[in-house]
Amino acid sequence: MRAWVLENQAPIEDRALKLLDIHTPHPKKNEVRIKVLNCGICRTDIHIAEGDLPLRKSPIILGHEVVGIVDEVGENAHRFHVGDKAGAYWLYSTCGKCKYCLSQRENYCPSFMATGWDENGGFAEYMTIGEAYALPLNAIQMPTASLAPLMCPGIAGYAALKLANLKKGERLGLFGFGPTAYIALKIAQYLRVETYVSTRSNKNIDRAKREGAEWAADASKEEIPCRLDAAILFPPAGNLVEPILRQLEKGGTLVLAPVSASPIHIENYSKNLWGRTIKTLYHLTRSNALEFLGMLDRLSLEMETCLFPFEALPDALILAKHGKLEYPNAVIKISD
Ligand SMILES: NC(=O)c1ccc[n+]([C@@H]2O[C@H](COP(=O)([O-])OP(=O)(O)OC[C@H]3O[C@@H](n4cnc5c(N)ncnc54)[C@H](OP(=O)(O)O)[C@@H]3O)[C@@H](O)[C@H]2O)c1
Ligand SMILES: [Zn+2]
Ligand SMILES: [Zn+2]
Repeated sequence: MRAWVLENQAPIEDRALKLLDIHTPHPKKNEVRIKVLNCGICRTDIHIAEGDLPLRKSPIILGHEVVGIVDEVGENAHRFHVGDKAGAYWLYSTCGKCKYCLSQRENYCPSFMATGWDENGGFAEYMTIGEAYALPLNAIQMPTASLAPLMCPGIAGYAALKLANLKKGERLGLFGFGPTAYIALKIAQYLRVETYVSTRSNKNIDRAKREGAEWAADASKEEIPCRLDAAILFPPAGNLVEPILRQLEKGGTLVLAPVSASPIHIENYSKNLWGRTIKTLYHLTRSNALEFLGMLDRLSLEMETCLFPFEALPDALILAKHGKLEYPNAVIKISD
């Protein structure tokens, strides 16, 4: 099969990913093989490729926003049939036995394996995954190219919002308005939570306003008009943590979504941190994925995607890194 393979980390502009012809994997007993139709690009792919996160397997195929068709099942795999639509996302596997796995907190499992980091992901014609971790997608009518970004920004946006633990009528701040924040905004609207968006570019400010945010601007230039009950930070910008905490009500929660961030410095503990809670989004669980997919038809999502041919992955990564995409979600088309 053809696959984009990373052996050594390097700046995205160095085009270290190589398109190779490699052995097509077959599913093990409890696995399925997915013929990949689409795989979305995530900021995390860039963090892995460039070395902000360690290289945990080499060579590795990146990509964890995978939608495709099951085309082979292992001899003990019964959950999917050949021809079923299936997805793979950040959670590749867990041990199933530790205290975290046994208490619905598998995201903290010490054996957590991530798709496209610990095991091969979706920038390839085929990938294999345990049937228990593949997502059944037959019931979802959306085009597969729109569905791919839901596998990460969708599920992670839902998980981040869940950590913010907001009630109807409360106020949420979203810092950075990329693909994940968009999903968090849509779910917040469904929950009747008021949303205030701070992002730098006019393009994202306009989009947040269009999508119904109460307020959208760059909070470093224009003051947010009220205190917030919770906030979610999306970009890996540690310098934003203290200003966001300052904007929170007492008892408020700041959720940090990034997998990597620049240093976080809190100057004034008593004024800005005391009485607030900071949580980090640490991987994802299967219940995050299933709960999100279960509410999909109640959200009016419009997934604006830039579709790239398989061969153009390195160009798409460069555009995504520099925020130069025409639409927020970059998706690679791998097969029809
Ligand atoms: N924790 C987990 O397990 C997990 C799982 C999935 C994803 N994630 C993480 O969640 C985040 C996903 O968010 P996303 O894909 O929506 O993010 P993104 O596209 O990387 O960033 C969102 C927006 O933030 C703004 N931004 C970028 N750099 C900034 C900076 N230095 N200062 C201020 N604003 C900046 C940009 O908008 P403007 O240009 O308008 O400012 C950008 O569009 C990623 O960081 C990803 O790694 C985490
Ligand atoms: Zn991701
Ligand atoms: Zn475990």
